[in-house]
Amino acid sequence: MLLACWSVKGGSGTTVVSVAIASAFADASPTGALVVDLAGDVPAVVGLSEPQGPGVGGWLAAGSGVPADALTRLEVAGPGRLRVLATGGAESGGHEGAGAEVAVGRATVLAALLAADPRPVVVDCGATPGGAAAAVVAAATTSLLVLRPCYLSLRRAQQLGVRASGIVLVGAGGRVLQPVDVEAALDVPVVASLDHDPQVARLVDAGLLGHRVPRALRRSLRHVA
Ligand SMILES: Nc1ncnc2c1ncn2[C@@H]1O[C@H](COP(=O)(O)OP(=O)(O)OP(=O)(O)O)[C@@H](O)[C@H]1O
Ligand SMILES: [Mg+2]
Repeated sequence: MLLACWSVKGGSGTTVVSVAIASAFADASPTGALVVDLAGDVPAVVGLSEPQGPGVGGWLAAGSGVPADALTRLEVAGPGRLRVLATGGAESGGHEGAGAEVAVGRATVLAALLAADPRPVVVDCGATPGGAAAAVVAAATTSLLVLRPCYLSLRRAQQLGVRASGIVLVGAGGRVLQPVDVEAALDVPVVASLDHDPQVARLVDAGLLGHRVPRALRRSLRHVA
């Protein structure tokens, strides 16, 4: 099961949603779960020191000389049964390799490998997915657009034209745009609606979100994970 999380604007909550879903899968599945970071913030959010070595970015940049099974060897242990495939250090093709243009063939191989993984796999595809992230979104069983319910985000989502299977609304409470308006504008169902929760922000700042996903956040995502 491959689940891709993406957004159309930075700071929407994509990394928080990705980690919360991956942690729920890791707790629920005897095989554990894998979270793949194509955007760069997952290690900090789950309290891992910044990986200096190669990650998925280096693997993408390496080309076909590096075998497909090398990807598994780049995983590191995260909290509980969660495994983390980080973007990787910048000096090893990390951030550039994952976010920027990569060979289309390599991106497709990555998406196929992740889709074939027996574990639940959650990918943080970052904002406005391109390159490898676009290939993963296209191959995902579930593609979640993480969205703030504001006009500018809606407009950008319409312009981008990438199809999501569901929308996760973040910070919907008190906004003028309600889930029904977002669904009508994008013709995609809202599968979860999260309140802005100061406890979530505190756990993110402390690098503890992967260890302790607040019950309210988990409950809000119950139809996804
Ligand atoms: N449900 C929430 N309640 C409170 N704060 C939240 C919530 N979701 C996200 N945040 C806060 O919003 C900020 C941005 O979240 P996050 O890093 O997940 O966004 P992002 O879409 O991944 O951003 P980027 O585009 O930079 O990768 C973080 O500081 C986080 O603490
Ligand atoms: Mg992020």
